[in-house]
Amino acid sequence: MSAALLEVDGFTGGFENQPGRIDPVLHGVSFSVPAGSSTAIVGESGSGKSITALSIMGLAPGRFRRTAGSIRYAGQDLTAMTEPELRSIRGREISIVFQDARSSLNPVFTVGTQIADVCRTNRGVTRREARKLTLEMLDLVRVPESRRRMDQYPHEFSGGMAQRAMLAMALISQPKLLILDEPTTGLDVTIQADVLDLIVDIKAETGMTTCLITHDLGVVAETCDRVVVMRGGEVKEIGSCEQIINAPTDPYTQQLVADSRMVENR
Ligand SMILES: Nc1ncnc2c1ncn2[C@@H]1O[C@H](COP(=O)(O)OP(=O)(O)OP(=O)(O)O)[C@@H](O)[C@H]1O
Ligand SMILES: [Mg+2]
Repeated sequence: MSAALLEVDGFTGGFENQPGRIDPVLHGVSFSVPAGSSTAIVGESGSGKSITALSIMGLAPGRFRRTAGSIRYAGQDLTAMTEPELRSIRGREISIVFQDARSSLNPVFTVGTQIADVCRTNRGVTRREARKLTLEMLDLVRVPESRRRMDQYPHEFSGGMAQRAMLAMALISQPKLLILDEPTTGLDVTIQADVLDLIVDIKAETGMTTCLITHDLGVVAETCDRVVVMRGGEVKEIGSCEQIINAPTDPYTQQLVADSRMVENR
């Protein structure tokens, strides 16, 4: 396996819900994302997947406090960076796509304008060039009639289409690492499958490293090569996709696999 692009090491923290008292949420979370891999983070609701992802981006909620550990990206410690330093990593090096695409888009600007703005900021191109690249990106994520759609507002997009637009916005900066936090939750099953296929295709085309967060092991089997299993803010097991699904060793992973088989067979 090639070198790790991202290394989360003993990352520990919690929420300062009351001044001076930290309610722990993450307990020594350690895992790595090898360059070129598609690593999944799975676990039940509240296991700390999103807080981990947000911490990688330096976007954890204001009351979150890191108490120990580090997060290294390409050898640099992200937890030691200043906000301007982090801003130069966000988008350009690491992008994130959240679950609810529509609420991440600004309702008062057209979808095309928002993607083009990110393109201009992160790639330093002209307005005209940004528009051209946006159109190409909307085609890549298979938004039909991209030229017309580009000038529409978020409310004119369906949920699946908005998720594709968010993917376009994350990809236009050409990040090396793409984090997807439950990117298909809330979408119809067929649209979910389309968006996942799209992610797999784009990964194959670009060679980008991906980190997919989900609670659905079925999704993992189809899209990932490595799996990190989390529960209660701890990493329970790490393995290849094949090992986790066919021969899980941790009792919690075994339960997770058994549950997902039951859903499949229903
Ligand atoms: N803003 C916040 N303030 C206080 N506690 C929070 C906040 N956000 C999350 N938490 C707590 O942190 C823990 C981990 O939450 P997190 O959102 O990372 O879970 P998750 O694994 O992403 O769950 P889900 O699958 O539901 O998205 C939970 O116990 C949650 O209650
Ligand atoms: Mg979450």
